[in-house]
Amino acid sequence: MSDLKIFSGRANRPLAEKIAKTAGIPLGRIELKNFSDGEIWVKYTDNIRGDDVFIVQSTQPPADNLMELLILIDAARRASARRITAVIPYFGYARQDRKDQPRVSVTAKLVANLITEAGADRVITMDLHAAQIQGFFDIPLDHLYASAVFSDYFQKKKIPNLAVVSPDVGSLKMARSYARRLDAELVLIDKRRPKANEVEVLNIIGNANGKNVLIVDDLIDTAGTFVNAVKALREKGAKEIYGACTHPILSGNAVAKIDSSEVTSVIVTDSIPLKEGSPKIELRSVAKIFAESIIRTHNNQSISSLFDVDKDKI
Ligand code: R5P
Repeated sequence: MSDLKIFSGRANRPLAEKIAKTAGIPLGRIELKNFSDGEIWVKYTDNIRGDDVFIVQSTQPPADNLMELLILIDAARRASARRITAVIPYFGYARQDRKDQPRVSVTAKLVANLITEAGADRVITMDLHAAQIQGFFDIPLDHLYASAVFSDYFQKKKIPNLAVVSPDVGSLKMARSYARRLDAELVLIDKRRPKANEVEVLNIIGNANGKNVLIVDDLIDTAGTFVNAVKALREKGAKEIYGACTHPILSGNAVAKIDSSEVTSVIVTDSIPLKEGSPKIELRSVAKIFAESIIRTHNNQSISSLFDVDKDKI
């Protein structure tokens, strides 16, 4: 069997280090530099000919993170790695996943094409914006769930009289899965986006009155969706309000918005490095899930058995 090697780009090295440590191997040695105009240059320091290579790189903005991933894949292919797996804890550009207006791009498909064309043989990622983005790849893709980490956290918290809230239709399946695991009721928010980065709550479907609530989502970007959900739920009589959101993009003044909202705490993962601290944002690492998935991929073992996904099928 070929050697397992894990390498990291610069998008989230602390997570890659944790993954490698949990997998019980050191991160592979690599040189990453920029020319004076910013162009990216990479070189695998060690021989990787015939190796099973895993490249850990999230693709949050700036787009250099995506570009660096493509260059890392290309360099590994040209160095004759036997198999290349792109490990993408946060898969960016996923929100543009359909042609919902004339003359727009479907960037999720474009990025899938780029990763495949660069030479990746497989992809491992987590909580894609929409599960069907898996179908944009014609190479095998393993989809991991942060709910394994979050559900455990909330089960231990034993919050009484809990309802799980989906802040929009897109997160409904995820919310249903949490509600089942936490034995909670389900509430859905009917949200509208008058334009990009603006959010309006139209209706709350289900009962939040007198409940402690947990809002679950794949990501927080401007925090508009989240903070509007908190406000609307409070108006409908919700008591303690918690959040569990996998990818903390937190652009602009998102952290300040969360801090001044009536949420008790939001749990996020380290799929993207946090830019600033906040008394209301708690971090849970997904390093263990990624490490386990890498080892299982290397040993040709099942990954789905890490999660009880079958019960959550629609
Ligand atoms: C929407 O479909 C997503 O699941 C998130 O709710 C959304 O992208 C969050 O964006 P923002 O924080 O900017 O409202």
